[in-house]
Amino acid sequence: MPEAPNPEASDAGTAAAQPRVLSGIQPTADSFHLGNYLGALRQWVAMQDTHEAFYCVVDLHAITVEHDPALLRRRTKVAAAQLLAMGIDPDRSAVFVQSHVPEHAELAWVLSCLTGFGEASRMTQFKDKSAKQGTSGTSVGLFTYPILQAADILLYTPEPDAGRALRVPVGEDQRQHLELTRTLAQRFNHRFGETFVLPDAHIPEGAAKITDLQEPGAKMSKSASSPQGIIDVLEEPGPMRKKIMRAVTDTGSEVVYDEEKKAGVTNLLRIYSALEGTSVPDLEARYAGSGYGQFKKDLAQVVLDTFTPIRERTLKLLDDEEHLDRLLARGAERASAVAVRTMETVRERVGFVGRGR
Ligand code: AMP
Ligand code: TRP
Repeated sequence: MPEAPNPEASDAGTAAAQPRVLSGIQPTADSFHLGNYLGALRQWVAMQDTHEAFYCVVDLHAITVEHDPALLRRRTKVAAAQLLAMGIDPDRSAVFVQSHVPEHAELAWVLSCLTGFGEASRMTQFKDKSAKQGTSGTSVGLFTYPILQAADILLYTPEPDAGRALRVPVGEDQRQHLELTRTLAQRFNHRFGETFVLPDAHIPEGAAKITDLQEPGAKMSKSASSPQGIIDVLEEPGPMRKKIMRAVTDTGSEVVYDEEKKAGVTNLLRIYSALEGTSVPDLEARYAGSGYGQFKKDLAQVVLDTFTPIRERTLKLLDDEEHLDRLLARGAERASAVAVRTMETVRERVGFVGRGR
């Protein structure tokens, strides 16, 4: 008698037997930063070894706030090039641009009709972003942003009876959007029949929150008050080193982990530990008595060793746009094959009449 397939088997070989992973990132900056890398993107690279992977640059999400078209086009390509340069393998994983697969917007519409207005109003990221934009600057698209995100995820649902998981690697700040996605999947299944697998958030511990080098109390973010607090993946080596040497440290000179009293050093220890794969206590022991200077100098080298090859590969990919476009076309084709099928099921379940041939 054949054994039930184990979806986690590492020798599963065929993508069809593996769990799926789906994630997205917005092309809203000229470069990804260290927080994106440690909080999310590094997991994307690792997970492709054990999952059938779909990774998209979410340009539809990027227009929920005012944007410049030429800049969006450029940043979409730079984002895709960085994903490939970080090690996402286009032969194994689908790297694609969200707008190349129109089913994302189509499923978002269906899901928006299942979302309560009050439910959407409770999304904390919307509340934060809309507070910054003001009422007249807040678009309806920003309001429905989490529903589009739910569609991004659920389009890549495995068949509900296949026993395959759907995992979504994201930072801590996306937890509420993942909860909404699960609620919408459940609601759809309840009303229209089993269609979607409930996705699981995959939130890394430890490295989950990287803070600003100048304001260690605040999250490292592209909207930071000063660029001195952010390390960009594509940053030139000179400035990168300088930023780390000038990172805010705390009174005293001991390299010890203490979130409350030594937020700056603690953040640097977390970064060092995550990049080098050395535990924090081992690092504390290594730098016992040596002061902040040597510690920062070595950390700068570790950061440079990680990002220099990524930067070089990104620039090379951007040098041959036709090749990059071809890779993205292939990714979109792979994603479409799944998205089109999911959408056919959704249309049928919802009660839309099939188009005659
Ligand atoms: P964002 O740049 O805010 O659109 O975030 C893109 C991804 O990176 C999301 O999964 C975030 O949760 C993650 N991320 C952003 N900033 C940080 C940070 N400072 N620390 C850890 N993860 C982050
Ligand atoms: N909202 C996510 C962020 O800010 C980006 C995103 C869009 C996403 N669609 C997604 C993440 C689907 C995971 C899955 O990081």
